[in-house]
Amino acid sequence: MTGHDLSIIGAGHVGLVYAAAMAELGHRVVCIDIDTVRIERLRRGELPIFEPGLQEAVIRHQDCGSLRFSTSYEDGLAEAEFIFIAVSTPSTPDGAADLRAVRAAARGIAAAVCDRRPIIVNKSTVPVGTGDSVDHILAMANGHPPFKVVSNPEFLREGTALHDFFHPDRIVLGSRDRAAAERVAALYEAIAAPVLITDVKTAEMIKYASNAFLATKISFINEIAEICDAVGADPLQVAAGMGLDARIGREFLRPGLGFGGSCLPKDVRALAYMGSVFGTHPQLLNAVLQINAAQRRRILQKVRTAIGGLEGARICILGLAFKPDTDDVRDAPAIDLIRLFLNEGADVAAYDPQAVAKTRVVCPDALYFDTPYEAAAGCDAIIIATEWAEFLDLDLDQLRAATGHPVFYDGRGFLDNDALQRAGFIVISGQGQQAPVPVPGGSRNGHTVGASA
Ligand code: UDX
Repeated sequence: MTGHDLSIIGAGHVGLVYAAAMAELGHRVVCIDIDTVRIERLRRGELPIFEPGLQEAVIRHQDCGSLRFSTSYEDGLAEAEFIFIAVSTPSTPDGAADLRAVRAAARGIAAAVCDRRPIIVNKSTVPVGTGDSVDHILAMANGHPPFKVVSNPEFLREGTALHDFFHPDRIVLGSRDRAAAERVAALYEAIAAPVLITDVKTAEMIKYASNAFLATKISFINEIAEICDAVGADPLQVAAGMGLDARIGREFLRPGLGFGGSCLPKDVRALAYMGSVFGTHPQLLNAVLQINAAQRRRILQKVRTAIGGLEGARICILGLAFKPDTDDVRDAPAIDLIRLFLNEGADVAAYDPQAVAKTRVVCPDALYFDTPYEAAAGCDAIIIATEWAEFLDLDLDQLRAATGHPVFYDGRGFLDNDALQRAGFIVISGQGQQAPVPVPGGSRNGHTVGASA
């Protein structure tokens, strides 16, 4: 395959993965970011994010010269045949996408690339059809002749991003210029995956609709789980039975604390916002968001009932990242739980193998520990908020001995309830299930509960 000169604007989750992976495919990559500290650290092989395999790939490709970092558009775009825009488009308070970084990137490109017309590849999720698409912004910033722009939405999951890059279910490309889309498709020719070429709006809508459907599956199974708990059915087995239907599929049917991260919540909000701006009524999308927000509040109520009140209680939260194998806490259920419990006058003791540093920034009033057992010491309840594999190896007897009140909620439904109960924990197992009646003689302030082992 012929290697090409690519520039990638944005050294975040998407930009860094694409920089390393495109270098792996044999291209020559310059990754640009205006954050000089971030670029200096990247040049030393220090990454601002935890993503399995990424640091090794970045170091390897810097050492062999197929990847370098720059803070300058003039320098970083000088040889570019393709310029990837991979900057973040976070939510504004009303759910719209914040496009300031995209506009800044477009202006930077327009200022630095005057006499050439590299193909612009947009990976940032931008609102569909609102006139804010990247080619519109570029045309405003640059005049004529306009750049050729190809929308190339990414479907990477954090924690498995490099795997997902090399094993995509599909490559989606949207452009007014089919030849430009086909040139971008050629960059991925070493990857076996169906290529779908559409117009720009359709490509961007595929991204939003895909994420919104994944979020819908999660809120759907959480609503079903609540009904199951009320009627006495087993939600996990219901999900398993549903998933055996090939039309439904077993993925994204795991009930629990709901979805977090920098994509699903943002994309569902943005899609609902787009729909309302265009006069439609995105009732289902709004319900998906409402159900998801309610999951956090619901477990607060269950714990309050189980331990007899939250004022002065100590709650242990194990797992802070929005999912395992990442340190990303954006929209993580644990962040909501910390704030909810602190607001009720409880203390929060927290542990996570990777995400403590980023959690401490947004939740400075919680207490953070180096091991789950230290975090559990004297607690009135333990909540698992992230399904880290290491939690499968927890010594449950040691954990129970450390805690005060033995209430336990597995917010990701991945630990063995029987083993938890054998260790003496009172397990809150679902959304709707009546919280267990406090054990006679039990107290919130850490005394050993009477009936427990
Ligand atoms: C998601 C999409 O999967 C990916 O295709 C897109 O490119 C970016 O957004 P990501 O946000 O990295 O990826 O994580 P994902 O694995 O989708 O999980 C999102 C959230 O849903 C996590 O908080 C996870 O805990 C939760 N989840 C996932 C459930 O609550 N139940 C499930 O069954 C699956």
